[in-house]
Amino acid sequence: MPATVPTRAATPRNPSLAADARPWSAERWCGYFEGNTTAWLSSPLHGSAALTTSERAAIADSIAMFQLGESGGGTHVRRAAAAYVARGGEAAYVQALALFIAEEQRHGAELGRFMDAAGLARWKRCTTDGCFRTLRHTGGLERAIAVLLTAEVIAQVYYRALRSATNSSWLRALCTRILRDEVAHIAFQAERLALLRRSRGPCARAWRNALQRVLFAGAVSWVYSTHGRCLRAGGFPLRRFWRSCWSRYRMAHARWNAPHIQHKLNSRNE
Ligand SMILES: [Fe+2]
Ligand SMILES: [Fe+2]
Repeated sequence: MPATVPTRAATPRNPSLAADARPWSAERWCGYFEGNTTAWLSSPLHGSAALTTSERAAIADSIAMFQLGESGGGTHVRRAAAAYVARGGEAAYVQALALFIAEEQRHGAELGRFMDAAGLARWKRCTTDGCFRTLRHTGGLERAIAVLLTAEVIAQVYYRALRSATNSSWLRALCTRILRDEVAHIAFQAERLALLRRSRGPCARAWRNALQRVLFAGAVSWVYSTHGRCLRAGGFPLRRFWRSCWSRYRMAHARWNAPHIQHKLNSRNE
């Protein structure tokens, strides 16, 4: 009797950020991202884009910066992923990364669609986006993922604040959907970072973790200084924003330092 081959699209179950959860293979991540694309396309977002004058003032610049950040093409990280596969990494990782980038671009496109409806101006460039881009471009795949993880973890708090900063039903629904995706993005990046660091010794790993904490502290401070008005409007004054970011960082950190990920990949499509 021939074995049943599971299809990619049959794996919509959400990934777990629990430190002891089994990591997914790149093939399984492809299935997740493809399933999520179908879910997005089958239920397009709509609702009220109306904003009061104070809501508009609180979010206009902030949402423009995040919209730009979500819209990048990922040229450098794609190249780094191809080099990783050429060195013996999982072949399907290039495709999984491409689907991940497409998902981020969808966030950018959906934020842009909302901004157009609300009459908010889009931006073509900004300093924050330029800094993140430069940091990602200064190293290989491991550094690019470490920088991406920094942005993903902060986004987990930012979109909560943005959701609460206005009464627009459209924007609130969009933030809820993006937040769900971002949990998966952190799992996707943290698992790969753990795999990339498995050959490193304890000192090298501790050094990289220390650098990553410095980067994260700087990024959280920078984001608050540039998005403070939106964050406060959404109920995240500095102290709460700082604590929320670090509590999510610790969760992601436990995932990319999980010892069992260093050795094992779960390729089952269950
Ligand atoms: Fe995103
Ligand atoms: Fe993301």
